[in-house]
Amino acid sequence: MEPVTLTADDGLVLRPWRAEDVPAVLDALRDPAVARWNPPYSPSPDLAVAADWVARRADWSGDEHASLAIRAAGTDELLGSVSLFRIDRVHDNAEMGYWVAAGARGRGVAATAVRALTDWSFTTLGLARVQLFHAVENPASCRVAEKAGYRLEGTARRSYRYGDGVLHDEHLHGRLATDPAD
Ligand SMILES: CC(C)(COP(=O)(O)OP(=O)(O)OC[C@H]1O[C@@H](n2cnc3c(N)ncnc32)[C@H](O)[C@@H]1OP(=O)(O)O)[C@@H](O)C(=O)NCCC(=O)NCCS
Repeated sequence: MEPVTLTADDGLVLRPWRAEDVPAVLDALRDPAVARWNPPYSPSPDLAVAADWVARRADWSGDEHASLAIRAAGTDELLGSVSLFRIDRVHDNAEMGYWVAAGARGRGVAATAVRALTDWSFTTLGLARVQLFHAVENPASCRVAEKAGYRLEGTARRSYRYGDGVLHDEHLHGRLATDPAD
């Protein structure tokens, strides 16, 4: 796949990752909440780690992920990250992940971006289902899932070792292409 740029609601633009994003990504990877609740990337991220993080997400050639930077239209400020990953063309499903920079939280950025990338995965990739997991102790992420139309489907017990090194219970949320738009 070639990376795409998507226009989302509320003046958000989801665009391919670029090398110029590396310093802002390093700040985000060092944010305590991202380090705790997103997949642990490195215990002590530096510029090389952030550059590798960006390069992997800018390269869609393996067809297994579609990862985009969240920006406000007309500005260069990086607001966050949204990623469709584990794209499985046998079962036509994938998983969704996201973070939002600390200064941009609480104004709907994550839910709007997740909804836009999910809609694209259904209409353009033809996926049937997208699912996401979050730690039960991360209620903000649970709310993002609900607002983006992902139904709570259950709790996976001690299913993922987060950045604190502890195995946490996780909520599984799923959204189907056939779910009614709300
Ligand atoms: C979780 C995260 C992505 C949310 O991003 P965001 O852009 O602030 O999300 P939104 O503004 O779209 O929605 C957040 C919702 O959570 C709610 N919320 C925030 N903190 C909460 C808390 N402690 N308890 C309950 N709800 C909470 C907000 O009120 C909001 O809901 P509302 O719109 O109904 O008021 C962001 O906080 C983040 O990056 N956190 C650290 C990394 C992380 O958790 N990533 C997700 C891993 S699964």
